[in-house]
Amino acid sequence: MLAIAVLAAGKGTRMKSDLPKVLQPLAGATLVERVISSCERLQPQRQLLIVGHQAERVEQSLSQRPGLEFVLQQPQNGTGHAVQQLLDPLAGFAGDLLVLNGDVPLLRPETLEELLQRHRESGAAVTLLTARLADASGYGRVFVTSEGTVSGIVEHRDCSDAERANNLVNAGIYCFSWPQLAAVLPRLSTDNDQGELYLTDTVAMLSPAVHLEVADADEINGINDRLQLAQCEAVLQQRLKEHWMREGVSFVDPASCTLSDGTRFGRDVVVEPQCHFRGTTVIGDGCRIGPGCLIENASLGMGVEVVHSVIREATVAAHCAIGPFAHLRPEAELGEDCRVGNFVEIKKSRIGSGSKVNHLSYIGDAELGSSVNVGAGTITANYDGVNKHRTVIGSGSKTGANSVLVAPITLGANVTVGAGSCLTKDVPAGALALGRARQLVKQNWQQISAP
Ligand code: UD1
Ligand code: CA
Repeated sequence: MLAIAVLAAGKGTRMKSDLPKVLQPLAGATLVERVISSCERLQPQRQLLIVGHQAERVEQSLSQRPGLEFVLQQPQNGTGHAVQQLLDPLAGFAGDLLVLNGDVPLLRPETLEELLQRHRESGAAVTLLTARLADASGYGRVFVTSEGTVSGIVEHRDCSDAERANNLVNAGIYCFSWPQLAAVLPRLSTDNDQGELYLTDTVAMLSPAVHLEVADADEINGINDRLQLAQCEAVLQQRLKEHWMREGVSFVDPASCTLSDGTRFGRDVVVEPQCHFRGTTVIGDGCRIGPGCLIENASLGMGVEVVHSVIREATVAAHCAIGPFAHLRPEAELGEDCRVGNFVEIKKSRIGSGSKVNHLSYIGDAELGSSVNVGAGTITANYDGVNKHRTVIGSGSKTGANSVLVAPITLGANVTVGAGSCLTKDVPAGALALGRARQLVKQNWQQISAP
């Protein structure tokens, strides 16, 4: 039997933020989401989350995750006090308890599996994860006996100078035999520099205590301030980009690009400098993205080219060319082989295959057939100040430069709209529509006086 407990009640004073620390985002997911996800493979029977500071907000952020039990810690009197709150909910539980700090987000699932395995094989009362760090400052130091068992943990601020020289640190990740931990938890004291109850003090009370040293010390990076947040982001970004480069994606300048966990790439994608992929984004085989793109919760088919553009919550079919300087907003759907050019904004509109919206347009709440040519500066006037209305343009139609289509309006197939028209009425298929003042020319308007 396995229960996991994530400590997420602390305020995170050193972040200097209104957001609880465990809700700070890292590559698009919050710290606490990452910690919980890292345990999924262990299939725990119970998942307890200790919340306190802005508890409701933390609970709210995890409302989509089933099976979490929230345990309130009020006030927050240290990590030992946090785990004491489990004495009631885990009364009678006879299995192992994996305790994770909510601010240690880079752990690999394999490492947790190894920790659990080590714990079960050794029959220890507690097995903790450790690492050797070049700069151990801020971390609790782990002291090991000549037999290799752990004799205790001393927090950085409680260490003597000699103790501080020890660079074997506590990751804040522990596997306890719960009945043994439960027996010693009530004995914790606040006799330390912070006057808090430290979970780390239980280690010296439990026997045997053993440790597992991680090979990749980056995994145990804890986040206490914005510097460490940025360092962890860099580690995560590096992991994500390395993964995708191995899967056949070329990054011209990887350091200038960022990915989310939910980004998926096909093969032979080329990503030019300064491209950012967020949320759940799918990029098809052979796409060429960048330079300078932001793509969020969007899906691009094969062979799409995008330059200097923003695409959010939009769907783009194969072989479209987008940009430079295009903006596809939520629910923009492009069929195959479309062209969307400079200073074009498309929102909640379906554009049929082979259509072109090449220059200076706003297309909103519209449905365009295939092979439509939208002239430069064409605008769908979709909003009357109260409601949004639809524009429909049939296949093969062409709008002249600077047309305004006042919705609701339907243009049939193969319609031609004269340049500079402002149309307010439907146009049948095959017609030419002109909605502009006839040109007047008055001869000899200016007196031409002799010099
Ligand atoms: C802790 C460990 C330290 C270890 C380091 C690893 C203790 C006493 N020290 O120190 O040995 O090297 O993590 O990153 O445990 N929390 C609560 N309730 C509280 C206090 C904290 O839930 O009352 C939560 C925080 O939200 C956080 C986690 O516990 O997610 C760790 O707390 P933090 O104050 O950051 O501990 P550290 O000083 O980093
Ligand atoms: Ca910490």
